[in-house]
Amino acid sequence: MNNELQPIGVFDSGIGGLSALRHMMDVMPDRRFVYLGDTARVPYGNKSADTVTTYARQCASFLLSHNVCMIVVACNTASAVALDLLTHEVTVPVVGVIDPAAAQAAFVTKNGRIGVIGTRATIGSGAYEVAIVRHAAGRNVQITSQPCPLFVPLVEEGWLDHPATELIAREYLRPLQDAGVDTLVLGCTHYPLLKPLLARLMPGVTLVDSGECAAHTACSLMTSSSIQSDLGERLTVYLTDGAPQFRPMAEVFLGRTVATPSIVSLDTHTTLGT
Ligand code: DGL
Repeated sequence: MNNELQPIGVFDSGIGGLSALRHMMDVMPDRRFVYLGDTARVPYGNKSADTVTTYARQCASFLLSHNVCMIVVACNTASAVALDLLTHEVTVPVVGVIDPAAAQAAFVTKNGRIGVIGTRATIGSGAYEVAIVRHAAGRNVQITSQPCPLFVPLVEEGWLDHPATELIAREYLRPLQDAGVDTLVLGCTHYPLLKPLLARLMPGVTLVDSGECAAHTACSLMTSSSIQSDLGERLTVYLTDGAPQFRPMAEVFLGRTVATPSIVSLDTHTTLGT
């Protein structure tokens, strides 16, 4: 198949990655997308790097079997621990969420104090620190990182502006406030839904949405390499588990109606490199 007819593949540990896909669909209105959410094995954020890497390779392999022209790793955790490996193993361009967000944070900070919030695995990997320092290119930056594991279930519960969420957010954000950050990287697919709350608790701080940054990077790659996908059915969604709660939640993340997802198993899929 010619590149011009190929969709862009996007994967995440679950449906949270639809928050990044939402931006991709906005900035690339003429592209077709295949989305894979590994809902049977979500969350990735509290699993080991080895396990997440195995899952990420299976997700990439699944998308490649759908003849995608590019893979966007919408999951921060998978990007943090598996992006380098995927980039080497996969023959199409692979875009993660960490590097674009790190570049944006290094660009917008005025006082050089940057906060990063994410899952335990993302923060534990140190991937954001490495990428921000690289993009700061010798400028002095002070990075304060904070895992916020309770945000994912709170968002999935729909408690976006609930007193319990605010209480927990105040606790998580205190070290970042104490550090005087002027920029906060939302290093998890779920956190953009908490933007109104985070903006209220961190007034004057620039919030960097990693999914939105990655959407712009993917878009510029598509344009510069003139890889095109065709018009037609814009989005095909595959999930590895079809629990009924995913559907309404998916529409909150994507901000659009989601067609009935197909349920697939990744067990039968060859892991890349094996
Ligand atoms: N998608 C994950 C991330 O962005 C959050 C949910 C999970 O822990 O799997 O890190």
